Amino acid sequence: MMAQGLARYETTLAGLERKGRRRILIDRAGADFSSNDYLALAGSARLAAAIASALDRGVPAGSGGSRLLRGNHPEHEALEAEAAVFFGAERVLYFGSGYAANTALFSTLPQRGDLVVYDALVHASAHEGIQAGKAQAIAAAHNHVESFAQAIEHWRIEGGTGHPWIAVESLYSMDGDRAPLAELAALAEKHDGFLVVDEAHATGVFGPAGRGFAADLENRANVIVLHTCGKALGVSGALLGASAVLCDYLVNRARGFIYSTAPSPLMAAAVRQSLRMLVDEPKRRAGFDALRSFANAELSAKLGVAGSGSQILPVLIGDNGRAVRIAARMRAEGFDIRAIRPPTVPEGTARLRIAITLNVDQPTIVCMFTRLAAMIAEEKPCALCGNGHRYRHRQDGVFGRTRGGTWRLLLETGAIGSG
Ligand SMILES: Cc1ncc(COP(=O)(O)O)c(C=O)c1O
Repeated sequence: MMAQGLARYETTLAGLERKGRRRILIDRAGADFSSNDYLALAGSARLAAAIASALDRGVPAGSGGSRLLRGNHPEHEALEAEAAVFFGAERVLYFGSGYAANTALFSTLPQRGDLVVYDALVHASAHEGIQAGKAQAIAAAHNHVESFAQAIEHWRIEGGTGHPWIAVESLYSMDGDRAPLAELAALAEKHDGFLVVDEAHATGVFGPAGRGFAADLENRANVIVLHTCGKALGVSGALLGASAVLCDYLVNRARGFIYSTAPSPLMAAAVRQSLRMLVDEPKRRAGFDALRSFANAELSAKLGVAGSGSQILPVLIGDNGRAVRIAARMRAEGFDIRAIRPPTVPEGTARLRIAITLNVDQPTIVCMFTRLAAMIAEEKPCALCGNGHRYRHRQDGVFGRTRGGTWRLLLETGAIGSG
């Protein structure tokens, strides 16, 4: 009986395998070209010492309950107060993760009758919150201010009476490009709306003292900024900066905040230390800026493609299987590179997401791009279809679908090399 109950999951997994989309967990090994530990804080001695000292002062590992019950710890409150000063926000709320913060914010703050216009490339956690919320929602073309403006104007013409919400990332997680924040802030202002900026990949590395690209917008009543703590800050959780009234509303209405155990007070103590390190160790960020520029130049020199300018350097491959093969070969040579496939990125845009962190040095970057250029040349797309998804690639060959819906062998694998 149960075997049948499980069979449907196996069928789905087999389908993912056929499309080159099945995900598996891979151990971390080799030079770090895939983490978001941009400033190499995660394993830093100072962060370890901060956690040890918090333990010594009696800070507990677990919070023991929701923030609204006994889970509220002085470490949470101290972190929020310090973060509000650091980021220039009226108030800050600490969540257990960026995912939790985004879902809480988008499912709670936009009200029925409002409109959420989100960039087509915003993170899955924003989608999750938007879907769970009560406002209408529409995607705008990526980084296209006019597309955001048109969506709002169209909604008003159709009778929209609430407030519009503009949802963007300041630095896009899979493309490494920046949002036009000043124009979007002006648009939000013009339409009496709100701007939500997810700074996940900018916090700690861009803006004055690593305060992010939205640093100069942060104190506006209609701007909400999310700083995740699991990336450049090297720890975990997320700091949501907003006006006091919006934070208070979240404390009263965000189900993910209310009905969830508060983050570990030890993590809050560690994030406090990360923020201090941003201020005390400007050399770390300066070193990172130099490494990032170096990596962008190397990418152009070795692969002949322009870099994003940021530490996120996507190398577009297109086909899922080819991206996975190249990433696996790079890992086998000691470079920890991961393939990112749909649905995380749009169909047909599977890529290697190369992330630059202070966990690697210049010579390692040179070696990595040299080997990557060679492997991309060796792992050619399929001669028959250019890996355009119209054919199915199997061990024994390439199959095409007949009108009757069956698969017919078109070419034996030996004839098409790696395709
Ligand atoms: C843009 C963006 N927002 C939010 C998140 C979620 O943050 P966290 O990993 O802290 O849950 C991520 C993480 O991948 C992200 O890239």
